[in-house]
Amino acid sequence: DAVERGEYRHYMQKEIFEQPRAVADTLEARIGANGVLPNIFGVGGDELLAKVKGLHIIACGTSYHAGMVAKYWIEDYARLPVSVEVASEYRYREAVVPAGTLFVAISQSGETADTLAAMRESRRRGYLGTLAICNVPESSVVREADLKLMTRAGPEIGVASTKAFTTQLAALALLTLHLARQQGLDAARYQELSDQLHRLPRAIDEALKLEPQIVELAERFVHRHHALFLGRGAHYPVALEGSLKLKEISYIHAEAYPAGELKHGPLALVDEDMPVVAVAPNGPLLDKLKSNLQEVRARGGELIVFADNAAHFDGNATRGALLRIDAGGDFIAPAVFTVPLQLLAYHVAVLRGTDVDQPRNLAKSVTVE
Ligand code: G6P
Repeated sequence: DAVERGEYRHYMQKEIFEQPRAVADTLEARIGANGVLPNIFGVGGDELLAKVKGLHIIACGTSYHAGMVAKYWIEDYARLPVSVEVASEYRYREAVVPAGTLFVAISQSGETADTLAAMRESRRRGYLGTLAICNVPESSVVREADLKLMTRAGPEIGVASTKAFTTQLAALALLTLHLARQQGLDAARYQELSDQLHRLPRAIDEALKLEPQIVELAERFVHRHHALFLGRGAHYPVALEGSLKLKEISYIHAEAYPAGELKHGPLALVDEDMPVVAVAPNGPLLDKLKSNLQEVRARGGELIVFADNAAHFDGNATRGALLRIDAGGDFIAPAVFTVPLQLLAYHVAVLRGTDVDQPRNLAKSVTVE
């Protein structure tokens, strides 16, 4: 055990630090200088994808959050309609399946009972085909799918998923680019997005360097009972994933909201005992987010802002902390901003002395309903 963990105290920490390698492996031989390479989805994949008119993405837990990011990406860049749903809901309702819809299952293990059952159920619902995005090649989900794109995270031991998530994002970014090109995205923009994806392993590596600052930040959470995470656009699911990590391993109650919803309820909870973590990439929604944060500050809430280097932010304007990140571009930013939130949850849990790799009541893979 200690040998496998090497210099790291827990598997989770080791797996967080493996992300640059895991993401690079997932992109390896699938994207070249001019973009996504042909036939990366398996035999007949490109032909089948050429017929896609929409996607239904099904998953659980962290994998579901990866699917939510993909919805923003695919709708933005490929202009195809995407719905994302947790498998335990999807399997028991009669989803409407328009002609030409691709069923996409995302799963680290490929053995999650609800995801597998949803995929089997999809067979009767008239999909164009099924695509598995999965980390375990010999798993049931992969065996039963028509097309597959394997994440290459390597074994993930920590119950709280980290490198599986960022490699899922890498795989979904490949799918996004493939579909975007097919659907006629402007060639210059396509090239720019593809260059961003090439930079992702390096950008994650840079984000990991924030660890010492995050260790300090973690102190602020140790005696807290609640935390709120905010994001907008594709960073809303990143906020959800950050709050899930904190819940899972530190047992602090955390919720995530799209920042524009703050005024519709959660603002009532904000006082000096409520740390509010905000993910602030650069982009058209930055000013909107800033005014959301202003509402938090006005109520005495403690703000912890993760902001893009390129985003103009007034450090003095935040009671709390401002951490700077080089997101490496608007497309890959969700994968990069995920990393400091993983580190935050990890270090809060370490300070609270919980069983980080084996949190109470949770299982790595939920193979029964
Ligand atoms: C469990 C794990 C989570 C994981 C979820 C889905 O709840 O604790 O970390 O995200 O299952 O697992 P899957 O293997 O299908 O991605």
